[in-house]
Amino acid sequence: MLTRALPLVLLAALGIAACGGNDNSSGASGASGSSGSGAKPSKVAVLLPDTQSSVRYEEFDRPLLTKAFNAAGVPVQVSNAQGDTQAQRTQADQAMTNGAKVLLLDALDSGTGAAIEADADSKGVKVIDYDRLVLNGTADYYVSFDNTEVGRLQGQGLVSCLGSKSGGVPIAMLDGSPTDNNATLFAQGAHEILDPKFKDGTYKKVAEQAVPDWDNQQALTIFEQMLQKTNNKIDGLLAANDGLANAAISALKARRLPQIPITGQDATLQGIQNIVTGDQCMTVYKPIAQEVDAAAKLATALAKGQTPTGVTTSTDNGTKKVPSILLKPISVTKTNIKRYFGRADFPAQAQVCAGKVAAACTKAGL
Ligand code: BGC
Repeated sequence: MLTRALPLVLLAALGIAACGGNDNSSGASGASGSSGSGAKPSKVAVLLPDTQSSVRYEEFDRPLLTKAFNAAGVPVQVSNAQGDTQAQRTQADQAMTNGAKVLLLDALDSGTGAAIEADADSKGVKVIDYDRLVLNGTADYYVSFDNTEVGRLQGQGLVSCLGSKSGGVPIAMLDGSPTDNNATLFAQGAHEILDPKFKDGTYKKVAEQAVPDWDNQQALTIFEQMLQKTNNKIDGLLAANDGLANAAISALKARRLPQIPITGQDATLQGIQNIVTGDQCMTVYKPIAQEVDAAAKLATALAKGQTPTGVTTSTDNGTKKVPSILLKPISVTKTNIKRYFGRADFPAQAQVCAGKVAAACTKAGL
């Protein structure tokens, strides 16, 4: 109960924080950068991107990261740039001034990320690209999911939700932010699955657009324009995350159009509820607890001056191969939601099945 309530408290705190992101620090501060095993770990700073492109950052990433570093006895400071690239640079700068020797960076875009990394490099501060790869950056490590696979799962999810429909089924695609390398990979994976179907005429791609900054409000406008342009003839939507999916669902409801198969990502409360009610057909659940665990272990080793273990692969960022850990995403539909209830990085059954969704939950056997 307590762990469920925590993110809400943090969100409330966010609302109070005036401009450009709140910080919360924990653990001993001002630890010196001494190295060697048994040494006092230096400080780690986590830089999260925003609160509007996905609820994941404040609902899951922040509390789980804070908990992991506290458990490891590593002083940590978590900031959220609230979508402001200048704020992210300032937060990184301040963290390093305050003694952070390791940055866990979820960059708003690669330009911002590369600038932060160049600065960190010049100060001997280690950087782990957290979730998003910074293109042409100098990161020491990269921890994320197999993001092309995320896109493939979305493509396959859409195909299976459409069932036997064929004969040029009109499909639209709402891609993520063009400045997020992950969005590029999601779209790539989705196209791997859908392109052959466009080619053989099973489906017809009637629209595809990237949503700047993953902004849900813009997604609504873009999807409304897509409906306008197609005379409401869209029978399936590849939406890159739950926020974009929900924007499209709102547009359909506003026009009193029937439900269509829509994909998503992040297994957010809203996304899971939309699946239960039939407004969305699937989401991609990325167990953030695993991502947090991998990143926290790497960062803890670095903060203690040790060489991290656990790296399984490497990723080319355009200028260097970054040692990486890439985790496995999971496809979630109405039929397997139940399996994940009770996990710290998945919405709780009581929240999902509250209020208006209660009846649909009962119907779905939840
Ligand atoms: C993350 C997704 C998230 C999106 C919008 C991506 O980089 O991997 O989980 O939905 O950004 O914040």
